[in-house]
Amino acid sequence: MENSSFRSISKALRTILYCFSALLLLVFLLLGALDYSFDEPLAYSEIAESPENIYYMNYDVGTLGDNQRDQLIKYGYDLFVNTPDFLGPEAQDSILRFTGNGLSCNNCHLLAGTKAFAAPLIGIVNRFPQYRGREDKIGTIEERINGCMERSMNGHVMPEDQHEMKALVAYLTWLSRYSTEDGAMEGQGFVDLEIPERPVNLEKGKQLFVSVCVECHGPSGQGKRKEGSYVYEYPPLWGLDSYNNGAGMTRVITAAQFIKANMPFGTTYLNPKLSDEEAYDVAGYINQQQRPSKVNLERDFPNLMKKPVSTPYPPYVDSFSVAQHQLGPFQPIMDYYMQKHGVKKTK
Ligand code: HEC
Ligand code: HEC
Repeated sequence: MENSSFRSISKALRTILYCFSALLLLVFLLLGALDYSFDEPLAYSEIAESPENIYYMNYDVGTLGDNQRDQLIKYGYDLFVNTPDFLGPEAQDSILRFTGNGLSCNNCHLLAGTKAFAAPLIGIVNRFPQYRGREDKIGTIEERINGCMERSMNGHVMPEDQHEMKALVAYLTWLSRYSTEDGAMEGQGFVDLEIPERPVNLEKGKQLFVSVCVECHGPSGQGKRKEGSYVYEYPPLWGLDSYNNGAGMTRVITAAQFIKANMPFGTTYLNPKLSDEEAYDVAGYINQQQRPSKVNLERDFPNLMKKPVSTPYPPYVDSFSVAQHQLGPFQPIMDYYMQKHGVKKTK
């Protein structure tokens, strides 16, 4: 009698143990699965709290296959991230030397074009064709890429049927596959900045450059290449290997917005390290240094009313000096366009 009740108790205990282990296993498996899905590039969860947010989507080219389309996307990604190795002035295939400096697209469109407020390119193909003020016409995605080619990359136009152009477009198309029809998204472009109502303080900008930026970009802003590659680990901020004077980044307001949400490296729009004033001063300082100059800049903005106020090169349809267009104060120029023409300028 005693023996059999002992047996039934121990059987019950064993059943409980089995159930418990099974439950534990299930919990671990579930956690594993959850962990896996949270392993995706999470960077911008905070823009929208929900994990269904577009920044959570899979933009890992490592998950692509080997068919022709996927290979083209992966090649586009490589071009985007390691640009000078393929398209730079020292690229092995001299026919492909389209860029004129050492930058990669990824140096400004961070996290391979998926970082909020670093001019992310998710949704970008859905936003084209698009009216462009610089050319005063409707432009295609290829033309927009060539805009960065000729300016940010100090290079020359890549033909639309060039395999490398097709690869870049394939990558950007893939980045846009979860986007809304119009491609609009939160985190597009750059963060807002309260533009100080004074000119850039170049002395303060220089001090900030020395205390914050030199650590990575080097004492003379020339950056540092990766070992055994033409690709920069820390890209140059001025000099022959940097963007030319026709690039968007040479507008103090644009550079300050980029810097505020992204520099020093690791910064996001949620935890800016520099104040708006500091970002403005350091942006002004780096943009006053020597860099390649682009030809035919006077042909930009056929309709000069469309020219951003911080475009550093003339002509303008106002009587403010070139120096003020480069270093501010910008409010008087913005006020002028508002009062005289009813045009609101933001950059
Ligand atoms: C020196 C920095 C820099 C580099 C390098 C650079 N870009 Fe850009 N790019 C910009 C800036 C600044 C803008 C303007 C963003 C804005 O106004 O919102 C821009 C805009 C764009 C746009 C339009 C984005 C939009 O939201 O409308 C595309 C597409 C683009 N770049 C592609 C490229 C490609 C491809 C490369 C490499 C071949 C490249 N860029 C290299 C700075 C850069
Ligand atoms: C911890 C290292 C680090 C620090 C500090 C840092 N940067 Fe950068 N910066 C980078 C890296 C890395 C990139 C390129 C990002 C990439 O390719 O993923 C970059 C890119 C840039 C770019 C765009 C590409 C180019 O070459 O023009 C600018 C502009 C820039 N940084 C400005 C600054 C300024 C201004 C400061 C100081 C306020 C600063 N950075 C501090 C690491 C750093």
